Amino acid sequence: MTKKSPTHELLSNLENFLAEENFGDSPKELYQPIRYILSLGGKRIRPLLALLSYGLYQDDPEKILGPAAAIEVFHNFTLMHDDIMDEAPLRRGKATVHEKWNSNVAILSGDVMLIRAYDLLLKSDHQYLPEVIQRFNKTAAEVCEGQQLDMNFETRDEVHEEEYLSMIRLKTAVLLGHALELGALLAGASKSDLENLYEFGVNIGIGFQLKDDLLDIFADQAKFGKQVGGDIISNKKTFLLIKALEIAKGEDLKELMYWLSIKEFDKTEKVDAVKALYEKLGIRQLTEEKMDHYFSKGFDLFESINYQNPVFHETLLELTQGLIHREK
Ligand code: IPE
Ligand code: IPE
Ligand code: MG
Ligand code: MG
Ligand code: MG
Repeated sequence: MTKKSPTHELLSNLENFLAEENFGDSPKELYQPIRYILSLGGKRIRPLLALLSYGLYQDDPEKILGPAAAIEVFHNFTLMHDDIMDEAPLRRGKATVHEKWNSNVAILSGDVMLIRAYDLLLKSDHQYLPEVIQRFNKTAAEVCEGQQLDMNFETRDEVHEEEYLSMIRLKTAVLLGHALELGALLAGASKSDLENLYEFGVNIGIGFQLKDDLLDIFADQAKFGKQVGGDIISNKKTFLLIKALEIAKGEDLKELMYWLSIKEFDKTEKVDAVKALYEKLGIRQLTEEKMDHYFSKGFDLFESINYQNPVFHETLLELTQGLIHREK
């Protein structure tokens, strides 16, 4: 028995839903950036996780397009603010909102996106609403906690691997976990399935951020859509930098410390030099091993999940496995 994967149709329904959503019109500086960032595409991983997770237990995942879109709108709000914090020039191959307009526009437009995310969450089946809001709020506050830790780490000399892993769990992984638990919750799945799906999402979410850190350095600029090397330019304490600081000795360590301390530099020169050090020290492979570890842990958990619909089970597995080899 072979059945067509439901991803394509879900994605196209989601895009239509987002395109038709009325976020607001005036003043235009507040609302245009919302349309702008949402129209630049993106992988839509989080709403797909919610929709597919719902489909494990119930027919017609389109019923939860509202709350699934809420997660995507929230994610895009965090990107708009993240790009200010990271001073990022590019997002999804186009100018970031604070570059195209200005930081005040990106702050306020982001704020109203968070509010619109709540409007969309209100489209959830009302019997689940208190739990939807409570779980969403817990996740959203954790994302902010992770983002603040990420900022704090930039100027700290030493960050331990464990601290980094708990930071990315917060800033990135819990939202993937939440998307999965949301879909299952709205489908009336059991508490234990909710928990296992959440943990599955958190583990692949940690792998997902490790991959994001790798792509930031090794991606093909044409495909990536973000500034390659941005993390190196800002001394971001990624897994790669933490490992390099741990492993580098002698001249290599001296060179790495030089690039971390220098205030005025040619961006390309710094990125190329640090990248060469990473290659020399075998950091890329170490990071890939760590990433694989979290993805495998996630897939082990996924095995323990009960489900009704094997097509959605297979599709969810394919989608998440695809995240390991993605190019953007
Ligand atoms: C980028 O998320 C931010 C991270 C948490 C790494 P995505 O890689 O999902 O970005 P889009 O939505 O596909 O553009
Ligand atoms: C961002 O991490 C996580 C959130 C947006 C909460 P990054 O700063 O690495 O994400 P990108 O690389 O800009 O997408
Ligand atoms: Mg960031
Ligand atoms: Mg960023
Ligand atoms: Mg990144």
